[in-house]
This record gives sequence, C-alpha cells and structure tokens, in this order.
Amino acid sequence: MNPLHDVLAAQIAASGPLPINQFMTTALFHPQYGYYTTQTVFGQKGDFITAPEVSQMFGELIGLALAQTWIDQGCPSSFQLVELGPGRGTLMADILRATKSVHGFHRAAHIKLIEASAKLKEEQQRALMGYNVTWVEDVTDLDQTPVFLVANEFFDALPIRQFQRIDDLWRERMIGISKGQLNIALGGVVSHPYLIERLKDTRDGDIVELCPSASLIIEQISDLIETHGGAAFIFDYGAWRSFGDTLQAIKDHKFANILENIGASDITAHVDFEALVSKNKAQHSAMTPQGIWLERMG
Ligand SMILES: C[S@@+](CC[C@H](N)C(=O)[O-])C[C@H]1O[C@@H](n2cnc3c(N)ncnc32)[C@H](O)[C@@H]1O
Repeated sequence: MNPLHDVLAAQIAASGPLPINQFMTTALFHPQYGYYTTQTVFGQKGDFITAPEVSQMFGELIGLALAQTWIDQGCPSSFQLVELGPGRGTLMADILRATKSVHGFHRAAHIKLIEASAKLKEEQQRALMGYNVTWVEDVTDLDQTPVFLVANEFFDALPIRQFQRIDDLWRERMIGISKGQLNIALGGVVSHPYLIERLKDTRDGDIVELCPSASLIIEQISDLIETHGGAAFIFDYGAWRSFGDTLQAIKDHKFANILENIGASDITAHVDFEALVSKNKAQHSAMTPQGIWLERMG
C-alpha cells in the first residue's frame, strides 16, 4: 500500500475525517513522502510542464513588464523582487536575464523567493547562482518596502476546502475511510457568510471551493503594495468564481484519481480569481463545522 495512504488512514483513525485542505497539504508536502518532497515534477520525466519550462520568452516578457512597472512608479531605489513557488528557478532566471540592461533595476532589487520544497530550493540555488537571493518562509517575512511580485502556477497548488449544498445548508466534503479505502464523504453543516452568499447562485447538490491560504496571502501582498508600492503578476488556471469540483490529480501528464498514488501525483484545484482580486477577508476567517456526521458518497 502507498505510504501516504497509511499516514492519512492513521490520521483519520486518530482524529476523524480530514478536510480536503489537510489532505492536500499532506499529499504535496509531507516531509518524507510528499509529492514536492520526493518527486521529479517538471518536464517529460515528470508529471507536468509549466510555461517558463516551455520557453524563456515567457519569463523575459514578464521581466520587461515588471521593469516597466518599476519605471512607471518612479524607479524606487530599493524594492523586493519576489517570486512565490519558483519551481526550478527558471522564471526568475529569465526575468533577471531580460532586465540586466534596465538601468538601476538589478541594483535596486532584493530577490526573495518563497518555496515550500527543500528539493526545489536546491534547484533554485543552482539556477540563480551568481545572484544574491534570499529565501523567506512566507509573505509575512517580507520587508515593509515596495514589492514587485510574480507567481506562476502557485495559487493552484494551495490547499482548498470544498462545500456541497444540501437543500439550503452547506456541508464540507471530507476525506474519510471505509473498509480500508480512502473516500470522499460529507461532513458537518458549515455556516459562513461566503457560503450564505453563494446560496444565491447555486442549487441543491452544487459544490463550491474556498482557498483560505490564497486569500490570506493576497491580503498580505495587497496591503504591502497599497502601502509601499509595487505590483503583482499572477498567472494560473481557474475561473472568475469558484463553481463545482475542480480538484484534480495529474500523473505522467494525464489526469489521475486524487485518492490513488498519493504523493506520486500532483494535486491542484482551479484558482478562484474573484476571491483573489476581492481580497475577501471572509474567505479565510474561521469556518467551523457544526456537529460531525458523515455520509458515504457514490
Ligand atoms: C506547479 S509548481 C510551479 C513552479 C514554477 N512557478 C513554474 O512555473 O515552473 C508550484 C510551485 O509552488 C511551490 N509551492 C506550493 N505550495 C507552496 C507553499 N504553500 N509555499 C511555498 N511554495 C509552495 C511548489 O513547491 C512549486 O515550486
């Protein structure tokens, strides 16, 4: 049996079914068996390919757009050049190559990377050899100075929670276990202003998703940019408003079952861009199930 299946089964046996965000965090970042801890994720030998890995033009154009925005804002003499989830470091390397001849840009830039995978940090170190790079834990560790930020396929890797409408109530979709097999089951009723609002544009049985960490990160970045200046360039898969089950696993460039090959396949969910731009504080505020009941789903 897959080692992460056993880890998750033990967690469920000890403390009950897991919200999907906890399942995703374990599947992607478990210190021993997590996907980003152990796997070669990019390229033909990996499971997926991203734009910077396809062509250097992607990063070079972003670099020039960042530099132009910096010039438009009066060339601040010191700023943080931040990347969230830099993967192999290719995008930042392309940004830096393209901006080399923009007068004063490199001198003013303090390169800061936010990366959860130790394995990928090593690759970033190699890709950015010769540059002065700092890794910080998360956006709360950024300084109070202008921020020019880029994130490509970062937000879709952040763990989501899913809620299913049953009549006029919302129940959380959870990872449970039955006869030794992980499954998706419905948890307790959840009450939250966002979910109440979504009663207006959903019907019985519909699913909506929330990404609490995405809205928290966006809120912190927006506060920094509002206060000190800068810009954020965010590229990802998603829709304007979360609707339906978008949780997906990819293995060897093909869709896979999220509950199989855990830790050996990538797991993502579509980004809800409305939540990102609306800096929706409601989305990461406390959301506690009222009572616990589980129902096996088909
Ligand atoms: C799909 S990859 C994209 C990599 C790169 N941006 C690219 O375009 O090739 C997702 C990246 O985000 C990182 N990541 C995911 N969740 C993270 C988190 N909570 N904090 C920091 N990095 C994270 C992964 O380790 C990986 O580097």
